[in-house]
Amino acid sequence: MFDPAFHADPYPVYARLREEEPVHRTVMGAWIITRYADVKALLRDNNFGVFDIPGRIERKSPFLERKKIGELRTLASAMRRWLMLCDPPDHTRLRSLVNRSFTPTAVESLRPRIQETVDRLIARVRSTGRMDIVNDLACPLAVTMIASMLGVPEEAHSSVTRWADGLSRVLDPLRSLEQYAEMNNVAQEFLAYFRGLFAERRKNPKNDLISSLIAVTDQGDRLTEDEMLSVCMLMFIAGEKTTVNLLGNGVLALLNNRSEFERLRQEPTLIRSAIDEILRYDSPVQLNTRVPKKDLVLHGQTIPAGDLVYFSLGAANRDPSQFEQPDKFDITRRENRHLAFSGGIHYCLGAALALLEGQIAIGTLVREFPDMALVPGKTEWMKEIIFRGPQTLPVTFTP
Ligand code: HEM
Repeated sequence: MFDPAFHADPYPVYARLREEEPVHRTVMGAWIITRYADVKALLRDNNFGVFDIPGRIERKSPFLERKKIGELRTLASAMRRWLMLCDPPDHTRLRSLVNRSFTPTAVESLRPRIQETVDRLIARVRSTGRMDIVNDLACPLAVTMIASMLGVPEEAHSSVTRWADGLSRVLDPLRSLEQYAEMNNVAQEFLAYFRGLFAERRKNPKNDLISSLIAVTDQGDRLTEDEMLSVCMLMFIAGEKTTVNLLGNGVLALLNNRSEFERLRQEPTLIRSAIDEILRYDSPVQLNTRVPKKDLVLHGQTIPAGDLVYFSLGAANRDPSQFEQPDKFDITRRENRHLAFSGGIHYCLGAALALLEGQIAIGTLVREFPDMALVPGKTEWMKEIIFRGPQTLPVTFTP
C-alpha cells in the first residue's frame, strides 16, 4: 500500500489477494477483504460498525500539544458527526435530515446549473487548446455544485475550495502530525465562516440546504448547530475528491481506450453505462473502513472483534466471478452491479448527483473536443490508499 508501483496499478495485487488470500492481514495489523461476494455481503452486515477515525485523530492531540504545534480537538469533534463515521441511531437521524436534498428529483433540478458550470469552465480554456481536467474542470465543478446546494455565496467559493482541499485528505491514514495540525486550523476557519453564514440565513432564509437545516434545528432538538456545521463540512469531504476522481479516472480510461472514446462520440446515449463502467473500472473510493462488533470467521480466518477491516471496493469491482473480463474497459457493459458507491446503510448519499455531474461533464468533453488527447508523460496518482485518481490530467485539443 505504500509502494508507488501499487498506487500506479493496484490491480495485479488485488488479483493475487482475491485468489490466494481473500481475507488478508496486512503488516499494519488491519484486514483487507477483496472478493466481490464477501464485500457486498459484509457491507450489509449489522455486525460491522464504523471505525473510530476521530478517536484515532484525537489521541494524537497530546503529542501536538507537547510539541506546541497545535491541537486536534476541533477537527476530531466535527468528524464525530460525519454520516460515514456514525453508527445508528445517530446515523439514521442525521441521514434522514439531509436525504431529501439528494432525491433523484432534487438532483435532476440541478441539471441546468451543472451544464452551465461545465460550459463556463470549458469556455475559460477553449482558446488555449489545453486543459488540466482535474484543476480546470473537475475540482471547480465539484465544489461549485456542493456550495450551490448548501447556499454558499459565489464570492466565498474560492475560500471554500481552499478549505475543502485542505481537509480532503483527513480520512487517509498516511498523514503526519503537522498535516493534522494544519487540517485542524482549516477546520476552525471553515466552521467560523459557516457559523456566520448560518446567522445570516437564520435572518434571511433562502431555498438552500443550509436554510432547510436551520428550519429543522429551530423545530427542537433534532439537530444541533454543531451537527449542522458537521453536515456542511462532510458534504465537501465526501463529495469533492470523489467526483474529481470520477472525472479524472473517466477521461483517462476513455483516452487510454480510444475505441471506447469513439464509440461514445458516435453514440452519446451510452453516457450512462459509460459512467457506471468508469466507476467500476477505476473506483474513485478504493476502500471502506469497518470494525466487527464480534469475532468473524471467513474463509478459515478469524477476524477478532474490534480489529480494523478494509473492504476493498476497487478489488471487488474487478472480481472475475462477478464481472466478465473485469480488466476490460467496456462502456456497453450490462448488469454492471459495481460497488463504487458502497452498500448497506452507508450507501453514498450523493450518488445521483455524482452520476449526473459525470454524465454532463464527460458527455460535454467528448462532444466538444473530438480530438482530445493526453499530454504524453507519466500519470501521477494521488498518494492515498482510500481515494484513487490522478493528481493532474493535462490534455490537448484543437482550440
Ligand atoms: C463519484 C463520486 C462519488 C463516489 C465514488 C462516492 C463514494 C462513496 C462511498 C464509497 C461511500 C461509502 C463510505 C462508507 O461506507 O464508509 C460514500 C458515502 C457518502 N457519500 Fe459519496 N461518493 C461520491 C460522490 C458524493 C457526492 C457528490 C456527495 C455529496 C455532495 C457524496 C456524499 C456522501 C455522503 C454524505 C456519504 C455518507 C453516507 C452515509 O454514511 O450514510 N458523495 N460515498
